[in-house]
Amino acid sequence: MSFDDTSAASSPADRATSDLSRTSQVPAAPDTAWFTHDRLGLFVHWGLYALGARHEWVMNRERMSVADYERYAAHFDPDLFDAHEWAAAAKAAGMRYVVLTTKHHDGFCLWDSALTEYTVMRTPFGRDVVAEFVAAVREAGLKVGFYHSLLDWHHPHFPIDGHHPLRDDPNVAELNAGRDVAVYREYLHGQVRELLTNYGRIDYLFFDFSYGADEATPVWGGKGADDWGARDLLGMARRLQPDILVNDRLGIPGDFVTPEQYQPDRPLEVDGQPVLWEACQTLNGSWGYDRDNTDYKSPELLIRMLIDGVSKNGNLLLNVGPNGRGAFDPHAEQALAGLGEWMRLHGRAIYGAGVSAHTPPPDVRYTQRGNRLYAHLFAWPFETLHLPGLADEVEYAQLLNDGSELKMRVIDPNATAQNLTQGGQPAGTLTLTLPVRRPDVAVPVIEMFLR
Ligand code: GLC
Repeated sequence: MSFDDTSAASSPADRATSDLSRTSQVPAAPDTAWFTHDRLGLFVHWGLYALGARHEWVMNRERMSVADYERYAAHFDPDLFDAHEWAAAAKAAGMRYVVLTTKHHDGFCLWDSALTEYTVMRTPFGRDVVAEFVAAVREAGLKVGFYHSLLDWHHPHFPIDGHHPLRDDPNVAELNAGRDVAVYREYLHGQVRELLTNYGRIDYLFFDFSYGADEATPVWGGKGADDWGARDLLGMARRLQPDILVNDRLGIPGDFVTPEQYQPDRPLEVDGQPVLWEACQTLNGSWGYDRDNTDYKSPELLIRMLIDGVSKNGNLLLNVGPNGRGAFDPHAEQALAGLGEWMRLHGRAIYGAGVSAHTPPPDVRYTQRGNRLYAHLFAWPFETLHLPGLADEVEYAQLLNDGSELKMRVIDPNATAQNLTQGGQPAGTLTLTLPVRRPDVAVPVIEMFLR
C-alpha cells in the first residue's frame, strides 16, 4: 500500500471509527455541573512555536526537520513567564477554568517528563511550567485543564503521515519502515499517566486530535482511536482522575463536543441527543503566538460569541498564545480586559445560564437561569423593544448593567399606528421602553424576572 492511498479499507482512520471502538463504553464523567455552570475558560497555547512566532503548526508548514526545530528548544528562556499573572488575567476576565498545552503536535513537553529528554527541563529555562501553572491556577480558585496532543512530530516512532513535517520526504517509506505506532502509543499513555498522577487534581483534558481518510480533505496515513488506544487511554484517565471531563477528539465519544473556530447555530446534538459542547476560539485565527497576524477579533465580537454560545447551551474556551518571553501580547490583554469589564456587570447572565425555551426577536439572544431571562441586545433599538410571547410571563424588567427599571406594557393588538400612537403587536407581545442612549457597555443586557 502506498502512503497516499487514502481509499484502503484498512486504514487506521477507518479503524478509528470501527464499531469496536464505538460500542465499548467507558463510563461518562460523573459530574459535569461545574462545566455547564462556568461557561467561560481560557485556553493557553504555549510551547517552542512561540519563538518561531508564526503559528503553532510552523514545523508542519515549513516542513522542518526535528534537528531544525530543536533550535527553539536551545533558545527557550521565557524570562517574563509568571503563571500567577496568567491565572490572575484569566480570573479578571471572568474565566473559571484554564487549559494549558502540556505538549502540542511538535512533541515538546512543558513538564518534567521522565519519558523523554525533549522537555522544558532541558532548555535554558529549566523550570516545570506545568507544575507552576497548576499551582497558580488552583491558587486563584480556577479549575485546571490540560490540552495534550495525540500527534507527535518529534517522536521517532510516530509514523509519518499527511500532517507530518516530513510528509514530502522522498524517503518517507523507508523512514516509516522503522516506526512502530505501538511504541509511540506506550509513550503517549505513559505521559498521560505522568500528567494525571503527578500534578494533583486535574479537572479537564483536551486530547487533540484524530484524523484520516473520511475528511473533507483526506489525510493519508491518518490516525484514530486504535492508534491512540483510545478506550484504554480514556479508561486510565477516569481511573486516575475520577472527576475529570475528557473531550471528544480521541476517535471515540467523550464528555463534551469541541467545535473549533466556528459558532454552532443551535444547541448541539449527537444522534439526536443534546450534548455538552464548548467552542474553542482564537483571538486572531492562530493558537500559538503569531507576531505578524493582526486579524484580531474585537472585544465586543468576543463577548457576542460568548453570549451566542451560552444562548445555545455552549461554553467558550478563548485562546491566548503567550509570546517567546512568556507574556501575553497587548491585544490579548485588551481582549481579556474587555471581557472582564463586561463580565463584572453581566456575569449573572452567563454563569449557570443556558438556552431558553422562549424565542428572541431579531438581533437579540436569550440566556436563561431559573426564572431569570436575559435579553442580550446586539443592536440598540429606538425606545421600544417588542418581545413576542412574553406579555404574561414577566414580573419585572431592568437593565442589568445598572439595575434600572424598564417600563413594561402590552399594546392592544388591535390598536392602529397613527400620530404619536404606536401600533399593536401580535397578541402576547411584551413591549419594553428603553432609554434613547444605549448603556455604555459592550453588549447591553435586560434582566427579566419571570413569573
Ligand atoms: C487543532 C489544531 C491546533 C489547535 C487545536 C485547538 O486541531 O491542530 O493547532 O491546538 O486544534 O482546538
